Amino acid sequence: MIVLKNPNELREVVQGWKHDGAEIGFAPTMGFLHKGHGALFSRSASENDRTVVSIFVNPAQFNDPEDYSKYPISTEKDLELCKAVGVDLVYLPDRDSVYPGGIPSIELRIPRLMRNLDAKTRPGHFEGVLLVLSRFFHAVEADRAYFGKKDYQQYLIVKEFVRMLGFPMEIIGVETVRDPEGLALSSRNARLSNSEKEEALLLSRALRLGERLIQKGETDPEAVRAILSDVLDSSTSLKTDYLEVLNADSLEELQVLKGEVLLAVAAFVGQVRLIDNITVRIS
Ligand code: PAJ
Repeated sequence: MIVLKNPNELREVVQGWKHDGAEIGFAPTMGFLHKGHGALFSRSASENDRTVVSIFVNPAQFNDPEDYSKYPISTEKDLELCKAVGVDLVYLPDRDSVYPGGIPSIELRIPRLMRNLDAKTRPGHFEGVLLVLSRFFHAVEADRAYFGKKDYQQYLIVKEFVRMLGFPMEIIGVETVRDPEGLALSSRNARLSNSEKEEALLLSRALRLGERLIQKGETDPEAVRAILSDVLDSSTSLKTDYLEVLNADSLEELQVLKGEVLLAVAAFVGQVRLIDNITVRIS
């Protein structure tokens, strides 16, 4: 496994592979890797000749400076995980090589998909995600890039961004990996105490309850929202940031549930902000 910090060296290695006819898969991350990231890497390794992973805590996408400064780092362990699942190259750039001359002042937005959910409660977040990904996509020139549906809105926005700007690359969404109790794996889970972890389980429990209601025939989004809200409000230490029931393709609100429906929730458990979602197809 090759580990590189320099974008020019990265480009050179990948171009060499492409010249030899290899198909390239790419999974961008911010490190502190877990099995959720591992699922993206294994999928890429199974669908491509070469897999590139980037690890970079992107300052441009944090609207809370404390969240950025507290973001956990575990490079040695991360490299071991990458090696174990067949990653060929890890790109570990520093801030200056990603943003020479500082973070540029440019706003990359897809207004249609950036009206609600995390775009609303974390202003500037997705603009920062699209900025860093533009840089990485140019450097890696992958055939396929892998994104987790755990960050469902991010996945949709990136897919649309790549389509609109004509990046010759396929965006692949990978199902959320959970722990045995249902908690969606996240680098932020490491900051939860044992009792907070119990509270955090309410997110996936609420979503599963919503899914069952819809499967039993409930078509009123407000009724589903109300039940989810009851589950989340049963804990006094959990503070809901948003709770939405939306069309899973357009992220628009629905009068009556039909087609593919997204149930999405964000909540603070203590100081830690967690997100989770589920999609339900109504036939
Ligand atoms: P990060 O939070 O490190 O996540 C990297 C990728 O792993 C994302 O595509 C995310 O959706 C996926 N992922 C995280 N937890 C997952 C889980 N439990 N199951 C499946 N996939 C999971 O998302 C980012 O970094 C950044 O915004 C980034 C895209 C790298 C841009 O900086």
